[in-house]
Amino acid sequence: MIKITYLGHSTFLFTIKDKSLLFDPFIRPNGLAAEIEISDLNPDFILVTHGHEDHVADVETIAKQSKAMVVSNFEIVSWFQQKGIENVHPMNHGGSKSFDFGSVKYVSAIHSSTLPDGASGGNPGGFVVKCEEGTFYFAGDTALTYDMKLIGVEFDIDFALLPIGDNFTMGIKDALKAADFVGTNKIIGMHYDTFPYIQINKEAALELAHAAGKELILLTIGSSITLGKK
Ligand code: NI
Ligand code: MN
Repeated sequence: MIKITYLGHSTFLFTIKDKSLLFDPFIRPNGLAAEIEISDLNPDFILVTHGHEDHVADVETIAKQSKAMVVSNFEIVSWFQQKGIENVHPMNHGGSKSFDFGSVKYVSAIHSSTLPDGASGGNPGGFVVKCEEGTFYFAGDTALTYDMKLIGVEFDIDFALLPIGDNFTMGIKDALKAADFVGTNKIIGMHYDTFPYIQINKEAALELAHAAGKELILLTIGSSITLGKK
């Protein structure tokens, strides 16, 4: 099984066997995640979808304290190398790489990716992680895009982490279509409620998902679930 802990916004800690993967760490600036101590985080990998502050804010600190490998696109990885992070793995769109927990494919996203200091963060992406315990799609920040159908063609997706906050990304209605495109009925919602622009009506979102025959999981910050094949 895959253990998934929600740390607020689009920040998730995945535990797969004895490895842990932290996605898009944005914890200290997030008032909703005030109870999360970043000094407690000791991941083996940090996966970064794109360069925006609300996805990279705590990467440097956590990478330096944990010596985790930072996995992202070439531009973002190079930016962190300049900050003294040596354990990195650069990727770009369409590329896959095997790690000891499983394989990672960096897939397209429709969004932007400028880094906090104005440097180019390349083009934004998402990840498909495939391991013995299951296969999941972490969309990052993105619009609904027909390219998501390619993910459904290539992979047997068990669950998808999709933004549902609208305004800067998909809202719930497009996220339900995205789940269809990638071929899953199980969605973990992310990128909602952190800022006024992305506040949502959670009850309405849950009702829309239910009516569409989908399971929408909205985790409380700090809580965990386990999902996956075995
Ligand atoms: Ni963004
Ligand atoms: Mn964002």
